[in-house]
Amino acid sequence: MRMMFLVLPVLALVACDDGGTTDPTDTTGADGAAVYSDNCAVCHAADGSGGTGPALDTVVPGKTASDIEGIVRNGSGSMVGFSADVISDEESAAVADYVVAEWGD
Ligand code: HEC
Repeated sequence: MRMMFLVLPVLALVACDDGGTTDPTDTTGADGAAVYSDNCAVCHAADGSGGTGPALDTVVPGKTASDIEGIVRNGSGSMVGFSADVISDEESAAVADYVVAEWGD
């Protein structure tokens, strides 16, 4: 009888853990749109129309997600790259997929 009291709350927690706001199309575990709005939108605008940085629909076409990951990590021209402390490899892959899907060709 005592076991029931221990097991039931644990099952309830496990069941709840599955729900929430996880995007089912996101296979990387990181949310590319959130990484973008936290780190890129300040210069490229939330809608990618540009500001300090260029409009993304002028610079992303022709680039692959892996090109974008390189730019995020190493920078490009006057854009400074992001270290792995700021954008992890997983987040960089997610934001690259997001950028290519939104503004790529
Ligand atoms: C501090 C401002 C700033 C932030 C933050 C920023 N960028 Fe940029 N970005 C720039 C500037 C400026 C350029 C143009 C660089 C150049 O060509 O000299 C640029 C260029 C780019 C390019 C084109 C590079 C090329 O070689 O054609 C891409 C793609 C890009 N940014 C993506 C991103 C992404 C994705 C993020 C977020 C992870 C981001 N940027 C964050 C300022 C920024």
